[in-house]
Amino acid sequence: MKFDSIPNLTLPKIGFGTWKIGGGSSPNPTTDSVSMAALHSAIETGYTHFDTAEMYANGHAEELLGDAVYSSQIKREALFITTKVTPSHLQYDEVLRSCENSLRRLQMDYADLYLIHWPAAGMKLADTFRALNKLVRDGKVKHLGVSNFNLKLLKESEQLSETPIIINQVPFSLSDRSYVKNGMLEYCQKNDILLTAYSPIDEGNLRTNAKLEAIAKAHNATIFQIALAWVISQPRVITIPMSANPKHIRENFEAAEIELSQSEVDQLTNR
Ligand SMILES: NC(=O)c1ccc[n+]([C@@H]2O[C@H](COP(=O)([O-])OP(=O)(O)OC[C@H]3O[C@@H](n4cnc5c(N)ncnc54)[C@H](OP(=O)(O)O)[C@@H]3O)[C@@H](O)[C@H]2O)c1
Repeated sequence: MKFDSIPNLTLPKIGFGTWKIGGGSSPNPTTDSVSMAALHSAIETGYTHFDTAEMYANGHAEELLGDAVYSSQIKREALFITTKVTPSHLQYDEVLRSCENSLRRLQMDYADLYLIHWPAAGMKLADTFRALNKLVRDGKVKHLGVSNFNLKLLKESEQLSETPIIINQVPFSLSDRSYVKNGMLEYCQKNDILLTAYSPIDEGNLRTNAKLEAIAKAHNATIFQIALAWVISQPRVITIPMSANPKHIRENFEAAEIELSQSEVDQLTNR
C-alpha cells in the first residue's frame, strides 16, 4: 500500500467505500450476507480506511461495518473510520445526536473523521461547527472534514473549525475533473488538506479507450486498476473505491502497487 501524509496524519492511498453496503438509500437486509462478506474480505485484504455515512442504507451500512469490525477482532486503533452527518441534520443538537447515533451503530467510542456530507441550502455553518468542535473536544471525533464543498465553503469551514480541516471528499476520476477545474485540488495540495476521491471508477461505469487499454495491458492490470493508480498518482489525493466482489476488492487494493510512468500519467490525464 502507498500512503499520503499531512502534518500529524498518514492515510493509505486506497481505502474502502460503503455506499450500497446494506442497501441504497434504505436498508435492504436481503443483501446483508454479501455485504458482510465484502467487509470481511476488505479487512482481511488489509484495507484500514473505511468510509461510511449515516445516510448509507439509512444507518444500516454503519451497523454492518460495526459488526464486521467487531467480529473480525481487529484492533480499533488499526483502523481509520470516516462517517458523515447528513445535510438535513446540520443544526447544533442534530449534529451531536447524529454522531451519537453513528457511534452506537458502529459500536465504537470515536470516529477518526467526521464529515459534513453535503452543504445544505440555508445551513448555519457556524452553528454546525460549534457542535463539531465540541465532538472533537469530547473525544467523540478525532478529525473534522467536509464533503462536496466548494472553495468558498471550505475556507469558511477552516475559519470555523478549532482543529485543521483535514479532508474534502469530492468526486474525482479519469472522467470527472470538476474539482481540479474549480481550483480545489490545487488549494488542498498547497494547504495540507487531503482530497478524498469518491466514485473513482465512475460507480463501475468507467469508460475505456485505446490508451487506457494499452496501459492496462502493459502493466498486466485491469482498466479499473489503472484508473485507480492514476487517481492516487496525484499528490494529496486518496481514494475509497467500493466493491461487494472479493476479487475486485483485492484488485482495487493491489492497484496501489502499480507504478505509472510520468508519460503514462500524462497520457491518461490528456486522454
Ligand atoms: N461524499 C459523497 O457524497 C459520496 C458520494 C458517492 C460515493 N461516496 C463514497 O465513495 C465510495 C466509492 O464511490 P462509489 O461507490 O460511488 O463508486 P466507485 O467506487 O467508483 O464504483 C463502485 C462500483 O464499481 C464496481 N467495481 C468496483 N471495483 C471494481 C473492479 N475492480 N472491477 C470492476 N468493477 C468494479 C462495483 O461493483 P462490484 O461490487 O461488482 O465490484 C461498484 O458497482 C462510496 O462507496 C462511498 O463510500 C461518497
